[in-house]
Amino acid sequence: MTVLISLGLAACDATWVEVDPPASTPSAPMVESYSYSRPDEVRVRHLALDLAVDFEAQQLRGSVTLDLERAEGAEWLWLDTWDLEIVRVLDSADQAELAWTLGEETSFLGRSLAVALGPETRSVIVEYATGDDARALQWLDGGQTSSGQPFLYTQSQPILARSWVPCQDTPAVRVTYKGTVRLAQEELQGQLLALMSAANPTEKAGDGVFEFDMPQPIPTYLLALAVGDLEFRSVGDCCGVYAEPALAEEAAWEFADTQRMMNIAEDLYGPYRWQRFDMLVLPPSFPYGGMENPRLTFLTPVLVAGDRTLVSTVAHELAHSWSGNLVTNATWEDFWLNEGFTTYFERRIMEEVDGREVVEMHSILGRDELEAEIAGEPAGEELDTALYVPLEGRDPDEVLHSAPYEKGYLFLRLLEETLGRETFDRFLREYFEGQAFKTMTTETFVELLRRDLLGGDEELATQLKIDEWIWQGGLPDNAPEPASSAFEKVEAAAAAFAAGTAASALDVEGWITPQWEQFLASLPVPLEAARLADLDTTFSFSSANGVIRRSWFNVVIDSDYRDGYDELESFLLGIGRTWLLRPLYGRLAKTEEGLAFARDVYARARPGYHSTTRAAIDGILGGS
Ligand code: BES
Ligand code: ZN
Repeated sequence: MTVLISLGLAACDATWVEVDPPASTPSAPMVESYSYSRPDEVRVRHLALDLAVDFEAQQLRGSVTLDLERAEGAEWLWLDTWDLEIVRVLDSADQAELAWTLGEETSFLGRSLAVALGPETRSVIVEYATGDDARALQWLDGGQTSSGQPFLYTQSQPILARSWVPCQDTPAVRVTYKGTVRLAQEELQGQLLALMSAANPTEKAGDGVFEFDMPQPIPTYLLALAVGDLEFRSVGDCCGVYAEPALAEEAAWEFADTQRMMNIAEDLYGPYRWQRFDMLVLPPSFPYGGMENPRLTFLTPVLVAGDRTLVSTVAHELAHSWSGNLVTNATWEDFWLNEGFTTYFERRIMEEVDGREVVEMHSILGRDELEAEIAGEPAGEELDTALYVPLEGRDPDEVLHSAPYEKGYLFLRLLEETLGRETFDRFLREYFEGQAFKTMTTETFVELLRRDLLGGDEELATQLKIDEWIWQGGLPDNAPEPASSAFEKVEAAAAAFAAGTAASALDVEGWITPQWEQFLASLPVPLEAARLADLDTTFSFSSANGVIRRSWFNVVIDSDYRDGYDELESFLLGIGRTWLLRPLYGRLAKTEEGLAFARDVYARARPGYHSTTRAAIDGILGGS
């Protein structure tokens, strides 16, 4: 077979020459774990990015230098790309142009980029620019930020890094990286700060050029960049917060306990390996509660609630510094190794910060969500609630469930309760130490578990139903049952309200966020408008934090409480966190009238959402 290979002029007017591919090149691209790369042949070890950030063109332009490790006889470098314009590929040593070819586009996978290496090529430079709707990137104009300045941020997990960096976009490949980021618009130089998942500046550079270094090897889904009008506030010896000026003080106050969390985490599971743990508060469209970009966790501004009640997400992203960033899921089917461990670790940190009672409340909410998900699982998709999820080619972003989080948590808690906390903690410490900077498959983890935690006791393995937990959907009958007496009181209050008691007569003294969530989830719906008005005037739900507001709007929608719809609309327009939005759009879509309302609001909200949020809501509302 002969392929056409561009001699690498600008992609639009490339010269095509016929090149015989080596015999080893399969005619169809090989895809393993959502990547075209073949790291066993040629593996990228280090990246050096040099990118201009052009807010006018909404484009990143420049180059990435990739240092390679080649297996004997390997002649092709395979990379992932998504909607990238490839300009030229050069051998770093002598700047000689190398032949390259882009493969067929396959929806969310993008296109392979195959580079023909010279016999001595050890490093290549890919000159490129991002496309019009690079999926990782969100470009915000001044109207979408609190500072009035433009903003750019990336979200690379799970397989979006390839839309802004040509790379081997699989968690199986780890790279160190350096970055140079230049602000293309002169008028923005000195106005904006650029940050990456790397060692970061704390001050804006007058010339608009920023240098970054990430000396620890990371998978590409942790590549991250943000550019905006940002200020830095230190909140501890090795942690701080970046935020737009209007939110900087509040954010620093909100996350003041971070250093303590770091100390607790290190006491639990060993040294923090990334020097600093800084946080970046993003504009409200950020699609997640948090994203564990190493050295620079990204956070939704919803967490800046004014009372430190939502900081468990900080503990969660911090915990990923061990589970995920240090020991990384080998494929997206092993995602629970990242998220289940992190949820367990998060709750161990929060046990020290908030106490066991509060953690039990969160665990109950988590288990309830998981059970609802299992109950609603469509026939044929039962394995989506197994710990190991066979994705079978589906977009990993579309199979986002609470099972990896909450079932993963319950499984680890079962191990803890069965073996004892001390034994289990020792096992986890050794796991993080022994597997640091490596990837982990579910199979290998189960082997380690049987050998190192259970000491080869097969009877115990059977009794724990390990195989059922890991490989089957649903919740095994030995799942731990978190319990909270505070929740019993909450449910009693909800029952009293349902039976006619006025809101003002309920005893809600000292309630915190999870109690309000449980209260609202326990109300019988639909409720009459007058009763909802009573609730809202008494407890001001419409102005509560984002998490409570979501629970409130669930009730508003289920009761078709029209007086609450204006606030619902501003919520849907103002926040991009998918986890908050999805259930609301989902509920609205259940009735014809609700669907019409949802589509109307979404038409206006959609341009302000990140591509992952759009994909999720498009799926619910049936296209844009
Ligand atoms: N790594 C995840 C976010 C993520 C998951 C991005 C899958 C892309 C694909 C992050 O650590 C996370 O779990 N965020 C949660 C936080 C919560 C569980 C505390 C979120 O955003 O809700
Ligand atoms: Zn997580």
